[in-house]
Amino acid sequence: MDKFLIEGGHRLEGTLRISGAKNAALPAMAAALLTPETVRLKNIPRVRDIVTMTQLLAHMDVRVEAPEVPPTDLIIEGRKVSGAEAPYELVRTMRASILTLGPLVGRLGYARVSLPGGCAIGARPIDLHLKALEQMGAHITTEHGYVEARVAGKGRLRGGHIVFEKITVTGTENVLMAAALAEGETWIENAAREPEVTDLAELLIQMGAKIEGVGTATLRVHGVSALHGTTHTIIPDRIEAGTFLVAGAITGGELVLDGCAPQHLSAVLAKLAETGVEIHEEAPDRLRVRGARKLVAADVTTEEYPGFATDMQAQYMAVATQADGASVITETIFENRFMHASEMARMGANISIEGRQAVVRGPAPLTGTSVIASDLRASASLVLAGLVARGETLVDRVYHIDRGYARIEEKLSSVGARIRRVR
Ligand code: EPZ
Repeated sequence: MDKFLIEGGHRLEGTLRISGAKNAALPAMAAALLTPETVRLKNIPRVRDIVTMTQLLAHMDVRVEAPEVPPTDLIIEGRKVSGAEAPYELVRTMRASILTLGPLVGRLGYARVSLPGGCAIGARPIDLHLKALEQMGAHITTEHGYVEARVAGKGRLRGGHIVFEKITVTGTENVLMAAALAEGETWIENAAREPEVTDLAELLIQMGAKIEGVGTATLRVHGVSALHGTTHTIIPDRIEAGTFLVAGAITGGELVLDGCAPQHLSAVLAKLAETGVEIHEEAPDRLRVRGARKLVAADVTTEEYPGFATDMQAQYMAVATQADGASVITETIFENRFMHASEMARMGANISIEGRQAVVRGPAPLTGTSVIASDLRASASLVLAGLVARGETLVDRVYHIDRGYARIEEKLSSVGARIRRVR
């Protein structure tokens, strides 16, 4: 199993190019199931989850081609989709496989998707996805670990009035895709407003879907009978960008992030500014970050977009370990997303946890040791901690980080980090 060996204490300096957003690319690939025509997606990140989604589509006889090496474009063509099934072997390695449910039942009137089950960060049920599809006329059964959604006579779903009792990102995306081909009008209220949802809506509109309210909490979809092919460029990954902002900040370095979307990072930029980090928007797609001589503590609470993203909480904890004073970090989205804290504590961080709150007292001099990554963003936070720790840090189970970061060790090395992959 691959590990990262990091020698801490090196200032990062230089320019990094931000990849396309994993969490926008995955629903976009699933959306290609909605049409028999060709969908070309550009700015696809080179991450493991994309490979898994490719395998999932191939399992349904969808053609997925990557014309360039390295592959940043994907050409997807679901002329005929067979099987309509997302098997356990693939779903268990990537929960986002659930994103095939909405488009499959929308186009074919039938889908069978393995139940994703819980994961390291929480129980993560999909009840809200299922309830919404039921309201749109799907008959849902769960048996033998699979959810089956069926429309009578394999016909079309019908529009519905969906009010999500909790904001769900992939739930909103699933319903949006299903509604695009449903008969009549669907209202989605309390919809997620994440930039990745907006990117999906824009792709669907380019494919011929009729969607109003894009970017707001109320989406109105007028179903159409068919969608067509298109070419779409995936938005930049705001979480990768945020992770590198933190890397520049805590190493007292100076980094330029090229090809990012500062407008999607407002909450992170504001929070880092509060801790004393200097960030300048040099162009609409370029940020420059300079670490402060002294970082100061600032509390943070995770929220749905446009609030501070839960996917940046672990990385922010790395900042808090280096900031002067006590930072209270409150996680409101997932019930078990502090797994990185105990590993950071083993590196010397002073962190106490009570329920959904972590109190981090800093600055704490970190020292390198062997740590284990438990999920994608937790791994990223341990890499960050390793960059400032004295001596060597060995981060185990980096397959988690490979799921969502494109060649992170190469990118970090290119700006002066001492990090290498070892077996
Ligand atoms: C998406 O997951 C992201 N994944 C996650 O990114 C991200 O952390 C999360 O949104 C929150 O921003 C993708 O986009 C592929 P939710 P998702 O449904 O859609 C509860 C990463 O590191 N809930 O918005 O699964 C749920 O348990 C990953 O890249 C229900 O109760 O998250 C959670 O507490 C990890 N019932 C809350 O809602 C449901 O049916 C928000 O989850 C659905 C969700």
